[in-house]
Amino acid sequence: MFMMRSILVAIVFMCSAPLFAAEHPICISLFSDAEVLGNNAAERIVEVIKEKQQAGQTSIVLGLATGNSPIPTYRALRKIFKETLLDLSSVTTINLDEYIGLATEHPQSYHTFMFNELFNELVATPENPRGIKRENIHIPKGALQTERDLSQDERALLNAQFPGPTGNLTKQEQILVAEHRANAYEALIKQVGPIDLQILGIGRNGHIGFSEPGTPFDSTTMVAKLTDNTRSVNAAFFDGNIQEVPEFAITMGIHTILQAKEILLIATGQSKAEIISKTLTSPLDPSIPCTSLRLHPRVSFYLDNEAASKL
Ligand code: GLP
Repeated sequence: MFMMRSILVAIVFMCSAPLFAAEHPICISLFSDAEVLGNNAAERIVEVIKEKQQAGQTSIVLGLATGNSPIPTYRALRKIFKETLLDLSSVTTINLDEYIGLATEHPQSYHTFMFNELFNELVATPENPRGIKRENIHIPKGALQTERDLSQDERALLNAQFPGPTGNLTKQEQILVAEHRANAYEALIKQVGPIDLQILGIGRNGHIGFSEPGTPFDSTTMVAKLTDNTRSVNAAFFDGNIQEVPEFAITMGIHTILQAKEILLIATGQSKAEIISKTLTSPLDPSIPCTSLRLHPRVSFYLDNEAASKL
């Protein structure tokens, strides 16, 4: 029953008209609420997995996002996995981004978020080999407090640039290692990719992943400085304390995101209405990173009524 696309609640609403020659239309599906949207997004994920499996593709790559927007989708996906015979053993996941400077186990790290919201119930176990193999789950590593967070290679890199005792890492040292990790993550995406389906949320300022306003459209995985706007919005997850929100993150760049074969962006709530409207109507402009999505041939926006209210 779950596998049947929910009826009467999803309306294929419109495809945007391209404003410039290089652009593609974005197809918009409108849903009555975030729960129904999540069910349909999960069904699209399952559909892509099954299509690729039936076509004989041996590895299916999902790009995954954090934030409130995909939570109902992940809930629905967990339910499908539990209640059906869905086989995820050939799935590889690549997350978009991670804060720099939080321990992996920090309650607000994206690593913790992904395991709590999705992977704890989807990871393969000896009893349930249909799950995703642990080694095929990829999230950028942001832990960078002390030397203990470094691999041998990273320690060597750091010693070459900043000789002498380290202990707690300085911001400069953290960024040097994080840039190294970002390059390695981009190489990993190239190696296991291309991403078959990329799930995206959207920041109120138009960021995708943590590719903030001003990020060039040809950017690849990088260290991003978070804007004050993003840090103040995300402070809600850190007991409202902006000082606790990391200043930097490792994130896929815009070019990296646009390499995915298909992109599904989820936006819910009134706070996203303005940026969704701008995404479709503003000129292509790095100061509104999400406008870059109009350069991709296969993008869907799944919106609830509120997020679509300014269209
Ligand atoms: C964070 C993430 C983004 C996400 C955005 C929106 O900044 N880095 O990937 O899209 O938040 O989050 P939410 O869905 O909670 O509005």
